[in-house]
Amino acid sequence: MTARVLCTLPLPDPFAAMVSARAELDVVGSIVPSADLAERLRHGVDVLAPQLRDRVDAGVMDAALPRLRAVCNYAVGFDNIDVPAATERGIVVTNTPGVLTDATADCAVGLMLAAARRLCEGDHEMREGRYAGWEPEYLLGLDLNGATLALVGFGRIGQAVARRALAFDMQVLYVEDGDVPVDPALAGRVRRVDFDTAVREADVISLHTPLTAQTRHLVGEDVLRRMKPTSVLVNTSRGPVVDEAALVRALREGWIAAAGLDVYEREPEMSPGLAECRNAVLAPHLGSATVKTRAAMARLCAENVLAALDGELPPTCLNPDAWAATKPAPAS
Ligand code: DGY
Repeated sequence: MTARVLCTLPLPDPFAAMVSARAELDVVGSIVPSADLAERLRHGVDVLAPQLRDRVDAGVMDAALPRLRAVCNYAVGFDNIDVPAATERGIVVTNTPGVLTDATADCAVGLMLAAARRLCEGDHEMREGRYAGWEPEYLLGLDLNGATLALVGFGRIGQAVARRALAFDMQVLYVEDGDVPVDPALAGRVRRVDFDTAVREADVISLHTPLTAQTRHLVGEDVLRRMKPTSVLVNTSRGPVVDEAALVRALREGWIAAAGLDVYEREPEMSPGLAECRNAVLAPHLGSATVKTRAAMARLCAENVLAALDGELPPTCLNPDAWAATKPAPAS
């Protein structure tokens, strides 16, 4: 039987070429509701390669059993997949860590600079013909030099932002619940603090934590009210980490000075009022959106798919226990 791989949206090169050399690749061409996805899986699929808008829950996986052996996400974040449910069913789950670290860190720093220095507000002023000439107190922003940056989440991306921030002579704090290896180049140059200290001391807070039950609405009204009124919030992680309705109030009422957002609570929608907040810099989930990075994600995703089809442990497997428990024979 020929091995079958399914994805909803077409993934960039070299995904199709790599996968098609080994299996039949079925590309839906659009995002489909979970029930439709389940229906397509019922026809027999060995590996599903979703992207972050495809919700892969227990029901979707059950529809694909007994044939489905792996779910290879085209994203580093995997909150769209019920990993414990996959593990229970012996289904391997993979993501694409590492290859998008620098692109996402660049995006976070871009948002930080744009929000702190009010570049998008300035852009609106120019386009709307409101710039009346240089003035001593026109659109004053926050200096990054000497400012305190708090990174919430200190994995690969948080640390890549730290390296960039040090080049701006920022003071770097970080909050991390887990035991993450810290780049020796950062040792002695960054300070680990608890979340409340970060909220109290930061001029800029940048979020780099995965979305979990614990981090949903981590930044809500209470936190926003405790941040400095001159501070900036940057989010390139997942939208629901911030209570977006509370953020709109914070931006309108001056609890904080500005925000730089790449992700939203209910993408692609924005909470009412956010679009009208001139002190918010709004990007449409572009963190990893460079030609090189998206190709690297496609390659890594394809390597995971091919390993799963061959019954090998995929390079970036999130639940090696599921693989070890089943050790599938290669799909023909
Ligand atoms: C991810 O990979 O999780 C990003 O949000 C998109 O690249």
